[in-house]
Amino acid sequence: MSIPTDRPATWFVTGTSRGLGLELVVQVLQRGDNLAATTRTVERLTTALDGRVDTSKLLALNVDLRDSDAVGRAVEETVSRFGGLDVVVNNAGYGYLGAVEEASPDDVRDMLDVQVVGVWNVLRAALPVLRGQRSGHVVTVSSVLGLTAVPGWALYCAGKFAVEGISEALAAEVADFNVEVTIVEPGYLRTDFLTTDALALPAAPSDAYPAIREMVHSHLELQGNQLGDPVKAAERMIEKVVAGGGPLRLVLGSDSHAYATAKVEALRANLDAARDTAAATDHPRA
Ligand SMILES: NC(=O)c1ccc[n+]([C@@H]2O[C@H](COP(=O)([O-])OP(=O)(O)OC[C@H]3O[C@@H](n4cnc5c(N)ncnc54)[C@H](OP(=O)(O)O)[C@@H]3O)[C@@H](O)[C@H]2O)c1
Repeated sequence: MSIPTDRPATWFVTGTSRGLGLELVVQVLQRGDNLAATTRTVERLTTALDGRVDTSKLLALNVDLRDSDAVGRAVEETVSRFGGLDVVVNNAGYGYLGAVEEASPDDVRDMLDVQVVGVWNVLRAALPVLRGQRSGHVVTVSSVLGLTAVPGWALYCAGKFAVEGISEALAAEVADFNVEVTIVEPGYLRTDFLTTDALALPAAPSDAYPAIREMVHSHLELQGNQLGDPVKAAERMIEKVVAGGGPLRLVLGSDSHAYATAKVEALRANLDAARDTAAATDHPRA
């Protein structure tokens, strides 16, 4: 069990003004738990919550996740307001749809700043608290694209593959401190993720990739018809934290499960084919 049962738990969730993050805010507050919600726009969060839930246990914080000091102050403020911290959810993220050679240096830095440096800033600030109290749960929202890569999503995959690696290592590092780690791998979720103001695109697209332009079109068309329900996704995430234990990865959506399974099978076939050549580079055993 990584959260308390004798008092309300305290959650710290990033990227909360819409989508999955907003659903988590609503459901955590409905449980009667305390919640620090970070966002780039507290005003949008407050408007989105208006009348939906009692916000007396909400600490809404304007935080630039790329700024390590700002993240540190947000965690301190959370502990000071609620007297502790039990669950950290790294949720903030955005998609980028373009070919590898179309991503500018700024596109690459922006994505990794939010999805990797930002997550690391939260971990660096929160882990001493969880470790010190010898309990807690870190949940990081990856994607099925943290496990498998498809054309057009290389930059997004770079961020999500990175958080998979960080989280896998972290899980082993903090197990002895009774701190749990969960990696969430949704497929398509019906949030704002594929809207034109959320999905980032290359500033200078190349004529060489008509298939990727078609993908951009079909993804924008998909908006509103994605298979996954963010309300149910938030429910499953909260359930897993409350129950504690279970596998490292929480795969959400039958689309995600199918893509992940295909990746594992392809990797298995690759490993089988590589067995002899892999061993051929060893020094002879003494
Ligand atoms: N929707 C999907 O199909 C899907 C699939 C797999 C994984 N995911 C992952 O699920 C998580 C939640 O996404 P969502 O589906 O809820 O999408 P969303 O509706 O677009 O919400 C994304 C949230 O992330 C934050 N965010 C977006 N861009 C940011 C930036 N540049 N800097 C800092 N924060 C930023 C926003 O927070 P504020 O505006 O409040 O700051 C926003 O509330 C993300 O990590 C996403 O990668 C989504």
